[in-house]
Amino acid sequence: MRILITGAAGYVGRELTRGLDSQHELRLADVQPLAGEPRFVPADVTRLDDVLRAMEGCDAVVHLAVASGLEGEVEDDAFNQLRFDVNVKGTFNVLEAARRHGLRRVVHTSSIMVAWGYSPSERIAADAPPRTVGTYSLTKGLAEAVCEHFARNHGLSIVCLRIPKPIEPSEPRWQGRRLRPQWLAFADLIQAYQRALTAPGIGFEIVTVVGAAARTRWDLDKAQRLLGFEPAVRLEELGFELGGEREPF
Ligand SMILES: NC(=O)c1ccc[n+]([C@@H]2O[C@H](COP(=O)([O-])OP(=O)(O)OC[C@H]3O[C@@H](n4cnc5c(N)ncnc54)[C@H](O)[C@@H]3O)[C@@H](O)[C@H]2O)c1
Repeated sequence: MRILITGAAGYVGRELTRGLDSQHELRLADVQPLAGEPRFVPADVTRLDDVLRAMEGCDAVVHLAVASGLEGEVEDDAFNQLRFDVNVKGTFNVLEAARRHGLRRVVHTSSIMVAWGYSPSERIAADAPPRTVGTYSLTKGLAEAVCEHFARNHGLSIVCLRIPKPIEPSEPRWQGRRLRPQWLAFADLIQAYQRALTAPGIGFEIVTVVGAAARTRWDLDKAQRLLGFEPAVRLEELGFELGGEREPF
């Protein structure tokens, strides 16, 4: 598949590029240049013309671009205005470009923060209605609504993956630390995207993927059933102690 990745120069984009590289032909879009990368195309998702140009000839898009900055329960900070522009309007532009180019699949990156407002004791369905906290979460919830609009009204095939923080467990910074149970190893994140790109019969789906240890609270059944996702990395089996979902890090 020829895949455009937006926000390809970011934390998740760099790992996904490595993970999807062997099976797909990638085009890497970002506002930050990727030095020495021939697949890089400059594209600001807040500009429809940029996205239309970057997406030319693609079969699918993995949309990651986000206003970088604090991602917690922030209500009022310097990124507020930018978040609406990049996270909501940017998603609208990516979907509008996907519609005009007739893309076969959109994999939109959402966040479990969209459902962070449920009580910590509640079990959360894989596609639970948004319960947002803070403007990051609010804009990610609004972006899901934009996705649903394009799927229902324009027939786009869209998977919204609600993801937690992905990590590479072998990195020195995590050794000897208590980790959050919902965190997902990059190997499993890549598996989820691979499957979301190719799963058959998708109209519009919101699917949560979290680390296996968090499945008692976050429903992983839909990811298994719909995408065939099976987490392969269990952080406890790698010797990590897992703390609470809001464990400081
Ligand atoms: N990292 C996490 O813990 C986490 C958790 C849940 C969900 N997510 C989601 O994963 C996705 C990727 O997050 P990340 O951690 O890689 O973020 P990041 O901040 O590391 O990367 C975001 C990238 O988007 C680019 N970008 C910003 N504005 C842009 C614009 N107008 N046009 C094009 N590109 C633009 C930035 O230059 C950057 O390279 C986001 O959608 C985020 O909401 C991340």
